[in-house]
Amino acid sequence: MNVAVAIVGCGLVGRAWAIAFARAGCAVRLYDATPGAAIAAKERIAPLLDDMVEAGLVEAAAPILERLTSAPTLEAALAGVAWVQESVPEELELKQRVWAELDTLAPSEAVLSSSTSAIVPSKFTEQLKGRHRCLVAHPLNPPYLIPAVELVPAPWTAPQTMRRAAEVMSAIGMAPIVMTKELDGFVMNRLQGALLEEAFRLVEGGYCGPEDVDRGLKHGLALRWSFMGPFETIDLNAPAGVRDYCVRYQHIYENLFPSMQRRADWTGPVLEKIEADRRQAVPADQLDARQRWRDQRLMALAAHKATAAEEIGD
Ligand SMILES: NC(=O)c1ccc[n+]([C@@H]2O[C@H](COP(=O)([O-])OP(=O)(O)OC[C@H]3O[C@@H](n4cnc5c(N)ncnc54)[C@H](O)[C@@H]3O)[C@@H](O)[C@H]2O)c1
Repeated sequence: MNVAVAIVGCGLVGRAWAIAFARAGCAVRLYDATPGAAIAAKERIAPLLDDMVEAGLVEAAAPILERLTSAPTLEAALAGVAWVQESVPEELELKQRVWAELDTLAPSEAVLSSSTSAIVPSKFTEQLKGRHRCLVAHPLNPPYLIPAVELVPAPWTAPQTMRRAAEVMSAIGMAPIVMTKELDGFVMNRLQGALLEEAFRLVEGGYCGPEDVDRGLKHGLALRWSFMGPFETIDLNAPAGVRDYCVRYQHIYENLFPSMQRRADWTGPVLEKIEADRRQAVPADQLDARQRWRDQRLMALAAHKATAAEEIGD
């Protein structure tokens, strides 16, 4: 895809977006308010691309790196771009300040998109002249390995902006979740939050250990969830499909919900148990190495899913 993109904020997420856009053929301009950070970003991206080549995810690093240029000013970064991906720290006042500048300086037809994890877009776009072209595109990290991205409109985001955003995201290989209105937590953190809350509650109640919860996911539920979602899962788990599943099994879940209303205290005594188990499995001084291991496993999984995409059906 031949679209010019500005990355505003070149931290963890900005750099990851830069890879996702440049890999797809976009000319990417990097801007960061910290002097030297945009240049350093390119240097930090280079070894990640080498890892991707090794994992078979891209053919060569050099053409992708060549599409990345650092911009000395915000004006220079935004000149002539069609897409702006803002990835500055998660502070409302900072976002409001940066977005006022983006709206003034970016070409009037450019889509303005925020990576924010948890701030609904109405909170930093309401006062903007070009608020119809603003949205949130929230990735899981890193977006060059995990395709899901939630597209969240403010009440004034134009339908045309949402269509364009979904087109651009699909064209760079992302899997857009297109929300029709904003909501705290968007979609993915609400789903993850529901699962985490129950995981904490189970361990807090002494019903099983943290490692049993993890085992239930990695050797159980998540095996199916890595190539189909919970709705397709239940559609295939009753002979006549999703309705049959709900009629047969709703009562099982209904019986559970009263005991799921109690809030777990994530930082209460249960955390001692979970942390002790985790640090026994991975000592604190090995967390960095384990994060690298996670990224390598993610790359291997992404490579598998890329070759299996036709079979999986997306
Ligand atoms: N870290 C994650 O896993 C994750 C995942 C999805 C979304 N996000 C969201 O992405 C955004 C960025 O998070 P991050 O983890 O990359 O943060 P980060 O701290 O790693 O990077 C932020 C960068 O923005 C720069 N910056 C600060 N003020 C700026 C300004 N006025 N103009 C331009 N650059 C500026 C900083 O110098 C820094 O390089 C946040 O909104 C966060 O919620 C984070």
